[in-house]
Amino acid sequence: MKVAILVGSLRKNSFNKTLAEFIQKRYADKLDSEILDLNLPLYNEDLESDLPADVVAFKEKVRNADAVLFVTPEYNHSISGVLKNGIDWASRITPDLTEKPGFIVGASMGGLGTVRAQMHLRQILDTMGMRILPANEVFIGAAHTKFDENGALIDEGTVAFIDSVVHNFVEFYDRNK
Ligand SMILES: Cc1cc2nc3c(=O)[nH]c(=O)nc-3n(C[C@H](O)[C@H](O)[C@H](O)COP(=O)(O)O)c2cc1C
Repeated sequence: MKVAILVGSLRKNSFNKTLAEFIQKRYADKLDSEILDLNLPLYNEDLESDLPADVVAFKEKVRNADAVLFVTPEYNHSISGVLKNGIDWASRITPDLTEKPGFIVGASMGGLGTVRAQMHLRQILDTMGMRILPANEVFIGAAHTKFDENGALIDEGTVAFIDSVVHNFVEFYDRNK
């Protein structure tokens, strides 16, 4: 299964980027994944007549993926502008996300671990006609305590839970092919 990973943080030491890299490595036998570059120009309809090359490349990668993994931080109780901008680009000219299966994980420093961001994200992706794995909510709160200095996810309960979510996603994907 070819999976496009969209990470909603551009920060070098982002917990969400670290989480995406962890998932990429740990489940490499199940998911052939690529973390896409979301450092794109801000969406502007005027650019649609002459799409920037990085937007063209991004849209193509989303379109060619079998599934999408969203790795979201929480900014002011919602998703980041970076992630929304990528989703907006993916939704225009060609509907790159429509009908695609996907799943969501997220890490934040707050106690609720992106609950509110993920609720918004599910609403957005539903509008887009995506098929998002129901339930299976990976909310990693207090993210600064869950990774070591090398970026390894050290919380065993969290790792075990992500194992089950990835397993469930692969079954969901196979059932809905
Ligand atoms: C603009 C902004 C708003 C934030 N709002 C929230 C929030 O609503 N809830 C929360 O748990 N953390 C919030 N945070 C803290 C983030 O969880 C923290 O910066 C986290 O490290 C961001 O994810 P990243 O490590 O992947 O960049 C906010 C951070 C920023 C920069």
